[in-house]
Amino acid sequence: MKIYVPRDSAAKALGSDAVAAAIAAEAEARGLDVIVIRNGTRGMIWLEPLVEIEEGGARRAFGPVSPADVPALLDGTLEGLGKVDYIPFFARQTRLTFARCGLIDPLDLDAYEAHGGLAGLRRAIAMTGQQIVDEVKESGLRGRGGAGFPTGIKWQTVHDAEAEQKYIVCNADEGDSGTFADRMIMEGDPFTLIEGMAIAGLAVGATKGYVYLRSEYPDAIEVMNEAVRIGRARGLLGADVLGSGRAFDMEIRVGAGAYVCGEETSLLNSLEGKRGIVRAKPPLPALEGFLGKPTVVNNVISLATVPVIFEKGAQHYADFGLGRSKGTMPIQIAGNVKHGGLFETAFGMPLGELVNDVAGGTATGRPVKAVQVGGPLGAYMPPSKFDTPFAYEEFDGQGGLIGHAGVVIFDDTADMLQMARFAMEFCAVESCGKCTPCRIGAVRGVETIDRIAEGDGGAKELLVDLCETMKDGSLCALGGFTPYPVMSALENYPDDFATRKEAAE
Ligand code: NAI
Ligand code: SF4
Repeated sequence: MKIYVPRDSAAKALGSDAVAAAIAAEAEARGLDVIVIRNGTRGMIWLEPLVEIEEGGARRAFGPVSPADVPALLDGTLEGLGKVDYIPFFARQTRLTFARCGLIDPLDLDAYEAHGGLAGLRRAIAMTGQQIVDEVKESGLRGRGGAGFPTGIKWQTVHDAEAEQKYIVCNADEGDSGTFADRMIMEGDPFTLIEGMAIAGLAVGATKGYVYLRSEYPDAIEVMNEAVRIGRARGLLGADVLGSGRAFDMEIRVGAGAYVCGEETSLLNSLEGKRGIVRAKPPLPALEGFLGKPTVVNNVISLATVPVIFEKGAQHYADFGLGRSKGTMPIQIAGNVKHGGLFETAFGMPLGELVNDVAGGTATGRPVKAVQVGGPLGAYMPPSKFDTPFAYEEFDGQGGLIGHAGVVIFDDTADMLQMARFAMEFCAVESCGKCTPCRIGAVRGVETIDRIAEGDGGAKELLVDLCETMKDGSLCALGGFTPYPVMSALENYPDDFATRKEAAE
């Protein structure tokens, strides 16, 4: 009998290590032939630790399981959830990027291959760099880190650049509030990221890759390092990738956890051992990136999606989605919510369906007041905008952004003036200090919101003015996007910004 107990850090935080130990001990005491496999998570966090028992080729799920449940689990008397695939939250998904996450032991390369892994790389090896770039263009894949820039065009720029050395840099400095897709795929299916980076290397002619991983993700660091070691030992990485005669190797570098190091030029500085401050663009990293050489800088999910595009074909991927938002997006649902977790779906699902049907509304049972999409720099969307389809252009049209697809839900007790203040405060703390609108503007923003809270109604105009300045004058997205949450709070929740005097009238 095989028993799967997730090793994902969210599951571990909810006690999966203790459950795995209890299963091993109980099985030994009973003399049962049980193999405990530490898989990634299936992404349904409210059910963690979610344990699966595999017998006769079928897997049955149980969760949340505590160590005290283990005797009943092994007796067969614990009430279960049935097959994971039939749990509504899971059944509604289209899992392409996350197809293997939670299914296999993340460090079992044979299991990876048995579930479709390496098929994409093998196909890419038989193609020229230009053919690989064309395939990515045809898939419509856009940067999943937040900006949504077409991945194929970025790769084309690096492909066309003349240089002796080029690099692939994976941005794994996942810093947006409520996001965890990068962490989950690295902990649950690391070979898919390695395979994606190897394909990117073949496409643009880069022989070396780096994953810039934040220090707050110790489990992801451990799994990724071990996966790279296994990849080298098994010929997936090194001088002769899968016997192709072409070289690609990579290493994991740990960042110290500054939010701004998720900005690509700041990340490159940090990777080079310098202080993590933003570089002016141009030059684009695609032309002058790591150590001044042409560099592909892509988010984890962008790169981890490449293998399935090559496995199933660009058209298969492009057939999902809405308009220019092709394929699927791993949406991360968090905050005050009943069913939080990872929900991968084709672009286009209305926000309200996601919040109310998929996620089941708030955990408190109170009405939803706001949903912040796209991290701390994303706009607050009120229920009146819940018919907005989850896609790049559609969110942009509503004054929002999908960013890295973090969705954080708030109930009607949230004070949106305080949330706007938090956005400014966050920017003030995390600012790299290079440009004035962000460095000074964020501090003035906190003060201005405090003035509004204290009854100075005239300060609202000043706040709007300040937001315009930050939006137009900041060098990078941190200062430039902070106005999104602030302005959306001000526009959509005017009552929360009514001064005491106005409120009394
Ligand atoms: P950007 O729009 O400046 O650039 C997008 C990407 O396209 C960059 O990699 C840029 O170098 C590349 N690019 C542009 N023109 C190109 C060309 N002709 N050839 C090749 N490459 C080209 O956006 P930026 O500043 O990189 O990202 C902003 C986004 O980051 C925001 O939307 C925000 O949501 C997101 N973000 C994500 C976080 C996370 O934790 N994932 C944290 C903070 C922000
Ligand atoms: Fe640095 Fe802020 Fe300017 Fe970005 S906007 S370069 S974080 S000071």
